[in-house]
Amino acid sequence: MKHHHWLFALLVAAWGATTPARAEKREIPDFDRYDAEDIMDVCAGCHGEFGQGTPDGEYPRLAGQDPVYLARQIEAFKSRKRINIPMIPYANDRELPPEDVQTITAYLASIQLPRHLSPLDPNKPFDALARLEESKKVLNIPHYPGDPARGARLYHRECASCHGRQGEGNWEKHVPMLTGQHSRYLLRQIEKIRKGERFHDSPDDAELFREYSDQDIADILAWLSRQDD
Ligand code: HEC
Ligand code: HEC
Repeated sequence: MKHHHWLFALLVAAWGATTPARAEKREIPDFDRYDAEDIMDVCAGCHGEFGQGTPDGEYPRLAGQDPVYLARQIEAFKSRKRINIPMIPYANDRELPPEDVQTITAYLASIQLPRHLSPLDPNKPFDALARLEESKKVLNIPHYPGDPARGARLYHRECASCHGRQGEGNWEKHVPMLTGQHSRYLLRQIEKIRKGERFHDSPDDAELFREYSDQDIADILAWLSRQDD
């Protein structure tokens, strides 16, 4: 790493295409773009060129996620507090020293994935290549089967206080966004939390999550998958 100035760039990101209840301040630490793109070459093989993950949920979306949350997961992979077998070759201090963790998590947090293609401007000539490039970044989670109205009630009773009213996460408390994340990835994490294989907010949460039926979870995912429409 050549130089690191920990000046904090202040980014005021409005949440998505819908009008946010309030514009939340989202701070992204300054990072060296050249170094970041170098590290990203490794991550892109699984998480995609823009950190968009894969629709089958095998690889989670990382783009636009809170950088502190992302760094905490990488530390948990390194210490094996969270087991991630595919990342074992990368999650160690030699391959990913702390400075690189800071750089890549800031970079990933800064990537904004549009939810829709921008409308075509009839006054401009159609640029097929630019359109193709733009379309690669668009991420809109397909509707998950379930009852979204029931899911909304369950979600607002016990999840919204931390994960946000629309599942947008909370960068002040370092709670991850759930809206915009691949449904099958979320389902896998919930199953791991139920089995006590993955840490949630408190150690008692394995029990709390076991109180939800598979249908409850499906309904919550059905609601979340509609919040980025
Ligand atoms: C060989 C494939 C592979 C590569 C390469 C890879 N990852 Fe991952 N990563 C995964 C898988 C699989 C998961 C999900 C594990 C699970 O289900 O708990 C994951 C999960 C994560 C998570 C947790 C996301 C969340 O929402 O909790 C972070 C952060 C992460 N990876 C960062 C990175 C970074 C940064 C790089 C590049 C340095 C990278 N990964 C490279 C496979 C990979
Ligand atoms: C008291 C706050 C709190 C509440 C309430 C809460 N969560 Fe979480 N949740 C967290 C935190 C913090 C994390 C990150 C844990 C970590 O660092 O691994 C998390 C992580 C998750 C993850 C993993 C996300 C990822 O990207 O890997 C899922 C899925 C999840 N929560 C679902 C839920 C659901 C569904 C509910 C409601 C039934 C809920 N949470 C209620 C705080 C909370």
